[in-house]
Amino acid sequence: MPADGDLGEAAAVLRTGGLVVFPTETVYGLGANALDARAAARIFEAKQRPSFDPLITHLADAADLEPLVGPVSPAVAALAARFWPGPLTLIVDRPERIPPIVTSGLDSMAVRVPDHEHARRLIAAAGVPVAAPSANRFGQLSPTRAEHVVRGLGAAVDLVLDGGPTRCGIESTIVDARGDHPVVLRLGALPVEELEKVTGPVTVRPGSSGQPVAPGTLAAHYAPRTPLRLVSSAESAGADRGYLAFRDGPAGDWAAVEVLSASGDLTEAAARLFDALHRLDAAKVTEIVVEPVPDTGVGRAVNDRLRRAAATWDPAT
Ligand code: TXA
Ligand code: MG
Repeated sequence: MPADGDLGEAAAVLRTGGLVVFPTETVYGLGANALDARAAARIFEAKQRPSFDPLITHLADAADLEPLVGPVSPAVAALAARFWPGPLTLIVDRPERIPPIVTSGLDSMAVRVPDHEHARRLIAAAGVPVAAPSANRFGQLSPTRAEHVVRGLGAAVDLVLDGGPTRCGIESTIVDARGDHPVVLRLGALPVEELEKVTGPVTVRPGSSGQPVAPGTLAAHYAPRTPLRLVSSAESAGADRGYLAFRDGPAGDWAAVEVLSASGDLTEAAARLFDALHRLDAAKVTEIVVEPVPDTGVGRAVNDRLRRAAATWDPAT
């Protein structure tokens, strides 16, 4: 827990146009004042993020939503009331006060209230909405520990608040509930089954084609530097390869093995996913072999990230 002074200093950095890395319950965020176009532009530079990939605006409290964006649809209001603070991002209309760079020129805006003490106190102290993507370089593994950020972004950041490992370990679920039928734009830490208890059946739209709606859904996102291959059945050992297992370690000899949850708990597996991938990536293996987890609850989001990490990303296409 940082002392109040650190939070105060971080809030001042935000107010004066700087970049602050802060923990949330999902992954670490790279924050800037969402009302300040120049500060938001620094996020895109630091992440080497394409300008067509819009940011999520973070608020300290659900009560701050309508004063910022005006009246929202009944479904958005119901979801915010039920799940905020928490790992759910909602799409709303972009208000005039938010500069277009934050939303990459879209008329819509992604917004959430993170369920993390540091994050909420920081945003409240700054007194402004905070635009924050995950604090990693574009396309690379998301950071679930402050060390991951320091390795990935380093000097581009003005201040890092270290809150230890994040609780969920996987990004928020993104939902567009402005119309009659809610659509999941990105699978994430809040399981679809939980959403449906509030909204009834939702459509899940993963994947992307052409101009992405939620570029976190670009095929090759969340990728380690080491080639990663998703397998459906047990592989024979490879002394120079790494293995990411769900609950049981693989047979044979591997250069590095990570088990996501020995007790078979999907929430624990999600929380450990990126940390395990960061470690396998650092183990200098020739390939990371990965088995999918059960495709239910937050396991769907874990499998989604694994598929994307396994896809090859060709920026030319
Ligand atoms: O858990 C999270 O959501 C983390 C923490 C830091 O809050 N943030 C995060 O941000 O994952 P980022 O930038 O890595 O992913 C945000 C995703 C992007 O894929 C972006 O395209 C999508 O949100 N997004 C943002 N605004 C959108 C909009 N108006 N319509 C559709 N998708 C949007
Ligand atoms: Mg991201």
